[in-house]
Amino acid sequence: MGAVGPSSKSLEDYGYMLESAILFVTDMKLGTCWLGGSFTRSSFARKISATVEGLVPAVASVGYILKKEQSGVTIRQLVGGHNRKPWENLFFREKFGVPLSPDDAGPFAGLLEMVRIAPSASNKQPWRIIKDRDSWHFYMQRTRGYGKSFTFRLLNIADLQRVDMGIAMCHFEFTARELGLKGRWEIKEPKIEKPNALCEYTISWIGEV
Ligand SMILES: Cc1cc2nc3c(=O)[nH]c(=O)nc-3n(C[C@H](O)[C@H](O)[C@H](O)COP(=O)(O)O)c2cc1C
Repeated sequence: MGAVGPSSKSLEDYGYMLESAILFVTDMKLGTCWLGGSFTRSSFARKISATVEGLVPAVASVGYILKKEQSGVTIRQLVGGHNRKPWENLFFREKFGVPLSPDDAGPFAGLLEMVRIAPSASNKQPWRIIKDRDSWHFYMQRTRGYGKSFTFRLLNIADLQRVDMGIAMCHFEFTARELGLKGRWEIKEPKIEKPNALCEYTISWIGEV
């Protein structure tokens, strides 16, 4: 766990960083769970001596995986944790509304699949990606009432969908590295019409040949 300040992409950075650690320990056959709402923020903040501006957006528990019969009903089951949105709802060609198929994605299909199966707060899967030639533009489709709502502010819960975007970036970039696909991140919003007011541009991956 860690804490972040109020800078513009701090929550995305946090998601990227903590998911990197999670993938590392997953590789060691350990189990993990992201916790964004259901933990006592103040006691974790004390443990790492977070400053007043430092928010602990989420933490991750790490441990040995329970055998199936030992575990009861979890939040994961309640939010349909195993379900994922299909490709056509997430990935598009040049503009929103034109689905990108795995064939269209070519060697990048594996990267998108790793984003698709990534974990997200309440399993909302806010990531949307548009392919435009060598660029992959990442957008966040906010869930209404999530993140900036009164309840979230009252409970001092971070804007967790921005953390989800960092997790998506981590899965995309790590898979690119694994497959030897070169590229870099750039924040430069393209002139693409967004489908609604809850959709926000995050970042683009520029592929390098
Ligand atoms: C930022 C973030 C916050 C989360 N917060 C919680 C939480 O507070 N409690 C919980 O049980 N699961 C939490 N989760 C886990 C999600 O519910 C889980 O990743 C999602 O349902 C998909 O499940 P799966 O990755 O196990 O397939 C969180 C996940 C993320 C990415």
